[in-house]
Amino acid sequence: MTAVTATTPDAFRPAMHYAARSTWLNDPNGLIFHEGIYHLYYQNNPEGNVWGNMSWGHATSTDLVTWVEQPVAIAYDELEDIYSGSIVFDRYNTSGFGTEARPPLVAVYTSAFKPASELSGVQAQSLAYSLDGGYTWTKYAGNPVLNRGSSEFRDPKVFRFESDAESYWIMVAVEALDFKVVFYSSLDLKKWELLSSFGPANATGGVWECPDLFPLPVDGDPENLKWVLTINLNPGGPNSGSAGQYFVGDFDGVTFTSSSTVTEGLQAPDRLGDYQWLDWGRDYYAAVSFSDVPDGRRLMIAWMNNWQYANEIPTSPWRSPMSLIREVSLQSVDGTPRLVQHVARELASLPSVHPPFTADDTEIAEGKHLLDSAAGSVQRIEASLSTGTAEEFGVIVRGEGTRGTRIGIRPAEGRIVVDRRESGQTGFHESFASTDAAPIQPTGNSYEVTIYVDHCSVEVFAQGGQITLSELIFPASTSTDVSVYACGGTATINSLKVTQLA
Ligand code: FRU
Repeated sequence: MTAVTATTPDAFRPAMHYAARSTWLNDPNGLIFHEGIYHLYYQNNPEGNVWGNMSWGHATSTDLVTWVEQPVAIAYDELEDIYSGSIVFDRYNTSGFGTEARPPLVAVYTSAFKPASELSGVQAQSLAYSLDGGYTWTKYAGNPVLNRGSSEFRDPKVFRFESDAESYWIMVAVEALDFKVVFYSSLDLKKWELLSSFGPANATGGVWECPDLFPLPVDGDPENLKWVLTINLNPGGPNSGSAGQYFVGDFDGVTFTSSSTVTEGLQAPDRLGDYQWLDWGRDYYAAVSFSDVPDGRRLMIAWMNNWQYANEIPTSPWRSPMSLIREVSLQSVDGTPRLVQHVARELASLPSVHPPFTADDTEIAEGKHLLDSAAGSVQRIEASLSTGTAEEFGVIVRGEGTRGTRIGIRPAEGRIVVDRRESGQTGFHESFASTDAAPIQPTGNSYEVTIYVDHCSVEVFAQGGQITLSELIFPASTSTDVSVYACGGTATINSLKVTQLA
């Protein structure tokens, strides 16, 4: 066995998150549950650990906890790179790629045409199909199937739209530089007809990428369905760089009508706090949802990185983890449906490797207090904390000496912060060391926060999942302290549970 020391880069390999064995990855692609298996495809450089040679890598899981890396699914060639897209199960063989007895999986991806192609510089949508459940893929000879002559038309998400009267395929894609989502329909996945477009709206500080559109019941009421349109943008996120925003509204099979567009102050940086964000942290990008998940759950996953420094993060030989998988739902907040996110139950119920550390009804005096038996590097921390006289209070994870990643509540500011300035390695890029903030409201006088800690990340779920903050960190493997702290006064631990995960 090789000893892993604090300086071995692979000490950052996540325990709970997917990362490729030895290569680069970015956006999740083609997420689908099919024949008992979750398939996670992703933007992958099969030959290196920086962005390039874009192909679809592939991993499979039966439980959303353990992933098996599979051979590259759809590879780049001299004519095209394989950019982001989605997969549908073509149950009725509308495409004709399969048979009635063996209907195909169909991947809809963006061909980014290279100089050797007649379509050099164009981004257009193409198909590939699989007749063996998603392991081997054949590109359609008639590609591309949808070409607008644009150099920035990409990231198709396709789903089956079903109403009482009819059913057809819908494609949601972007004209990235125009801040526009475009909607197309098709009967056979090959011929596409433009239906409508959406945007610009709300955050437009960077190109729009990787859209998704799905219905969700409000407060679990199947009679009250709303549609959620998610749009990733880069840069222009609430704490700078890459991030995802969402809109809630209606979709009638042709047009998306948003009820959450802020009409004043487009592009004004001080309006970013008024928009709805999938995540306020720096490292939750290209989020999309799985298709065909049993029980109607809507599960999402994102690339945990930020284009500001993505190619420079200090992991090796792989680069970039995926986020934890989240279940999303809609909940009325002051009469308005808001997206609420929780870690998928398969991951949220991971057992403790030894009895959890717990504390109740304890005052946090001014200063920093080490929780001796709570130390660890892969943890779930569930905290309910109340305001006393402190200006800021919270939890420090992956600590050692004066170092650590601070997750703090600032009640007077109404903000929760993740401070990773002393989190470990930060010098690989000038914009990495940061304190990032999100709005937070107490319930009564207390703040409920769940934090997932791994070898190179923290993911914070606050206010019942209304607010999330996901961030990369690169601490030494010896930095395992967990502390609570209060600045300028006191606070109270109502309850605290630290669970060590395998
Ligand atoms: C988003 C993105 C997509 C594109 C892919 C290329 O991160 O820029 O728009 O399809 O990455 O790798």
